[in-house]
Amino acid sequence: MTKPRVLLTRKWPEAVENAAAELFDVTLNPDDKPLGRAGIRAALENYDAVLATVTDDVKEGTFTNLKPMARILANYGVGFSHIDIEGARAAGITVTNTPDVLNDCTADLAMTLLMMAARRAGEGEREVRAGKWTGWRPTHMIGTSVTGKTLGIIGFGRIGQAMARRAHFGFGMPILVQSRSAVDPVILAETGAVQVDTLETLLPQCDFISLHCPGGVVNKHLINADRLALMRPTAILVNTARGEVVDEAALVDALKTGVIAGAGLDVFEAEPTVHAGLLECQNAVLLPHMGSSTRETRVGMGMRALKNIQQFFDGIEPDDKVN
Ligand code: DGY
Repeated sequence: MTKPRVLLTRKWPEAVENAAAELFDVTLNPDDKPLGRAGIRAALENYDAVLATVTDDVKEGTFTNLKPMARILANYGVGFSHIDIEGARAAGITVTNTPDVLNDCTADLAMTLLMMAARRAGEGEREVRAGKWTGWRPTHMIGTSVTGKTLGIIGFGRIGQAMARRAHFGFGMPILVQSRSAVDPVILAETGAVQVDTLETLLPQCDFISLHCPGGVVNKHLINADRLALMRPTAILVNTARGEVVDEAALVDALKTGVIAGAGLDVFEAEPTVHAGLLECQNAVLLPHMGSSTRETRVGMGMRALKNIQQFFDGIEPDDKVN
């Protein structure tokens, strides 16, 4: 029996590429260059499965007048706001993602950003590396304490819950939650979290805000100038979700004028371009979308994507079908 023809749009961890090559007739991307919209369309027309990532433009228009050979688009990553899910469905293409395997890793990075922004770790490192450190003094690099402060979590899925556990059990932080749907009281009780109805209620009560909601049109600029103004002037915003959730121009303004104290960002509106104003903000910690970037997790994500296409070609509904 001929093996399904499968394309990996980017370079994947070697262990996963090897596993893929055993199972399928695989085409790799050793140069690791993004394919672009035209390349993705060509891939969908010429392969049985396309294994994509967040850097692939599969948004509205991708499926217009497409004659797809592919019947499955397996995303390597949990977020899929870069994929026109409805368009894929209309074109008869199943879309899958890779949830669960990156929960801890992403929550670890959110906590890292929270701590770095609170304790001015990026600034301190820049000072040392620039040879500008003149020695210990009582007023040097004063940050803000984390222990016992209130954390507001927006979006309380698996990553949000993992963040709550770290903050609550590691740092004694009371947790407030805002989420579109009612969270199971058992889940809230695990970290003593309290769900509030609106962002307007949540934001003024928190010392830290961490975003864990999906991206896409529905949450575009959820955090805008008006909502930043509701945060405490001492508060810090952390975003490991999706860049579009925050209005970056409004955030730059808020960081520069003291509307909020700081931010820790792993995701950006126009990746890999970062708003020039953010680069000027010493009170922003900026990381290059590395929430899931551990060896273990990146292999786990790949294996999960392979499992999804294996299930699909075995005639089973993939565990992580999203459309
Ligand atoms: C994810 O899994 O969503 C990461 O952000 C990479 O896409």
